[in-house]
Amino acid sequence: MVTERTSRLSEFYKLSNKKRLEFVREFANLTDQEISSLQNFGLEMGDAERMSENVVGGFSVPIGIGANFLINKKDYLIPMATEESSVIAAASNGAKIARSRGGFIAKSQGSQMRAQIQVANLPDFNRAEVTIIESKDFILKTANKRAPTLNSLGGGAKDLKVRRLRTDRGDMLVVELFVDCQDAMGGNTCNNMAEEIAPIVASLSGGRVVMGVVSNLASERLVTATALFDKEALGGGKIVEAILDADSFARSDPYRGVTHNKGIMNGVVAVGLATGQDTRALEAGVHSYASLGGRYRPLTSWKANEKGDLIGTLEMPIVVGTIGGASTVHPIAKICLKILGVSGAPELAEVMASVGLAQNLAALRALVSEGIQKGHMRLHAQNIAISAGATGPLVEEISGTMIREEKISFNYAKKLLSEKGA
Ligand code: MEV
Repeated sequence: MVTERTSRLSEFYKLSNKKRLEFVREFANLTDQEISSLQNFGLEMGDAERMSENVVGGFSVPIGIGANFLINKKDYLIPMATEESSVIAAASNGAKIARSRGGFIAKSQGSQMRAQIQVANLPDFNRAEVTIIESKDFILKTANKRAPTLNSLGGGAKDLKVRRLRTDRGDMLVVELFVDCQDAMGGNTCNNMAEEIAPIVASLSGGRVVMGVVSNLASERLVTATALFDKEALGGGKIVEAILDADSFARSDPYRGVTHNKGIMNGVVAVGLATGQDTRALEAGVHSYASLGGRYRPLTSWKANEKGDLIGTLEMPIVVGTIGGASTVHPIAKICLKILGVSGAPELAEVMASVGLAQNLAALRALVSEGIQKGHMRLHAQNIAISAGATGPLVEEISGTMIREEKISFNYAKKLLSEKGA
């Protein structure tokens, strides 16, 4: 069925799910086994028990394909796991508009994470700071013993800093390790390293180590994505101006800024979930980064060029891994990574940032034009029709009538069904 390897999918939503899967199979060279796992989308109990405790079952979320994405000149089909209607359609739409002007340019800064060791009850702060810094090479070497594979690949603990922290229980010292986690998310590596060096830090400082753990404010793991959106494709100059107004609203008001960022995370987390990422770490990283300066900020910024086209830029921390964690053990996550065809964590982060930017563009465009509810209506009406008892072609028919007549309710669906003798 695939004649050309492109992510530009016209009316993909109109195909049966079998046909869609056939397209993805050819695009990503999936095996029969992978196709069957995607269709059954259940976890084997054994796999589930290796991931969590007290397991009694699983929870399924639909995976759809984010279409039309051209990122750094490469075509991607993007698996997105979300229960929210319109998210995948919106991202695909944003990507389609970006595509006509060359798609997204995205760049990951790398995979550096920070592990923190908290030290209290210090007899002499200055001495402790000097002693720890003087022993930096030894501490880094000791930390790196916990990650030989990462080291052999050029990653590992690279730097160490010390800072004095004023707290309501007196001054403390924070020793911070900066770890290049490469293709791993890095949480476990950072935690292991922090625990490994804790006794050394205690003895060098003369203080009491309270804890050692990774920080989820991953300000050293930033990704940027940018794209140009054609004015006419957006609906004209008035829409561009309104999107710029919406951008200013988000920049000036945290109550709006957080919803703006939530829309971005609709796409980012959907890719994260499909590829087995720690979505709580993604969310924590993003919202803490957005408030870093003491004021909550949107992750995107928008401006118009001299021709009136829109240029969007997104900058955000994206903590993901393609090695370790669920990305390596969850069978569906592995298939989703195969569909994406990314070479490692930095490329995955670049894809996710591009999805976030497309998602934000689509949300703002809908908000400043027809609103977001209209797009939700089709699925909403279908759900009502199904809950009233419609099956097969009746689902489309009943929901279509309810939308046309602007009467979407359970009782009306029931009435229409009884008129059909169903
Ligand atoms: C809904 O899930 C997301 C939006 O509210 C995002 C936004 O307001 O920018 C539409």
